[in-house]
Amino acid sequence: MKVIKNICCIGAGYVGGPTMTMIAAKCPHIEVNVVDINSERIAAWNDINVDNIPIYEPGLSELVAETRGRNLFFSTDVDKAIQAADMIFISVNTPTKTYGVGKGMAADLKYIELCARQIAAVATTDKIIVEKSTLPVRTAEALKRILDNTGNGVNYEILSNPEFLAEGTAVSDLLNPDRVLIGGEETESGRLAQQALVDVYANWVPKDRILTTNVWSSELSKLTANAFLAQRVSSINAISELCEVTEADVDEVARAIGADSRIGSKFLKASVGFGGSCFQKDILNLVYIAQSYGLHEVADYWEQVIIMNDHQKRRFAKKIVETLFNTVSGKKIVILGWAFKKDTNDTRESAAIYVVDYLLSEQAEIIIYDPKVSAERIFSDLEYLNTRTNKENRELVTVVENPMLAFADSHAAVVLTEWDEFKSYDWKQIYAAMLKPAFLFDGRMLLNHNQLVDIGFQTFTIGKGQ
Ligand code: NAI
Repeated sequence: MKVIKNICCIGAGYVGGPTMTMIAAKCPHIEVNVVDINSERIAAWNDINVDNIPIYEPGLSELVAETRGRNLFFSTDVDKAIQAADMIFISVNTPTKTYGVGKGMAADLKYIELCARQIAAVATTDKIIVEKSTLPVRTAEALKRILDNTGNGVNYEILSNPEFLAEGTAVSDLLNPDRVLIGGEETESGRLAQQALVDVYANWVPKDRILTTNVWSSELSKLTANAFLAQRVSSINAISELCEVTEADVDEVARAIGADSRIGSKFLKASVGFGGSCFQKDILNLVYIAQSYGLHEVADYWEQVIIMNDHQKRRFAKKIVETLFNTVSGKKIVILGWAFKKDTNDTRESAAIYVVDYLLSEQAEIIIYDPKVSAERIFSDLEYLNTRTNKENRELVTVVENPMLAFADSHAAVVLTEWDEFKSYDWKQIYAAMLKPAFLFDGRMLLNHNQLVDIGFQTFTIGKGQ
């Protein structure tokens, strides 16, 4: 039976950082080395002040403080960590391809392939390779071929161990997962490798929550889980539009259907649309895989989840313009929240980016506040869209650190992330500072609208209308 003493994780991002910190915390007998080619990111993970680690997650900096330098290490020396490891997690990014065949849909696997080639070039002892990144079904086959054909004759076992944590609750999700999924080859050595990883998780996860499957089921389950979760959001968002024209209330509908145990109450919150680095890219990847196998109806079915999400973002932005008397040109609009959801500093695919881009195209003057996202990040997100030059973005957008200073002479406030602090603002004072009529658009159904209306605001919220 293989006992794991040394783990290497390639990729110190939103998944690699928190997952390895949890393994180090729960397995003090295992040395965990997290490596990345991004030296700035590694420097931030090693910052003396743990509050400066590159990823904001409630409870994470405390865990890093406990483990870093004990059995958790962050480094740019990828080769050394590969050499020393019994088990190597690959946790690098797998974004949507932006070029060539599958552009805009397929997962770009170049980072994964580079890792495999580097492992093969460096390793001189047997390794268990763990796919932690979300990958298209049957990627393990490609990895194995690269490792076996370019390596030094050592033996590789490949496992799929997709990560189900949600940003914003990563620490509690890792501490108390609904399940851990480990896919392995159905051979004797495959089963031994699978058991070695089961034993790592069994240090803190109850055995009945550790599921083992074949590799392909495990790879496909991750894409399927994200597709199902995103589909629930798009389903309730589709109903939210119907609520707005029928005077039904989407919160009431969600409560009524969620009480049905066959449906369940989670992930039924209507909003301006889902964001994050995963849902869109993973569904697009699923659509692409279905298309590649000629399963066009399957592809179309899942693609609709994305189409609905894009529609939801666009119609919210359109609603703002229509409500402000069909023009926002030169009007000051305050945006509250840029992260794709609360309790994270991740902004990838955030609905805020697309709503603001729409408003900028209508020549609005935008003031943005987010408690955890830097101005630099916001401008680079806008720049990435390539809708206008960076100079033009900077002329129209101001990022503030004190939200209370943002509202003077503004026409509208728009909530795009559900940060709790927005609920505790002095909305009377904000109303006083704004131009009248003062409009409030709540893309997250976060605030108390009866109170806001009493203050004098004209409010609009998803799924409830005006
Ligand atoms: P990320 O972009 O935050 O981190 C990836 C890191 O890998 C980067 O720091 C990058 O510099 C590094 N990297 C890339 N190529 C490398 C190489 N050859 N050698 C060393 N380092 C390299 O990405 P994130 O969010 O951590 O996602 C990683 C994977 O996990 C993706 O496949 C994603 O789909 C999946 N995932 C993400 C979740 C999330 O909430 N962010 C949740 C579950 C899965």
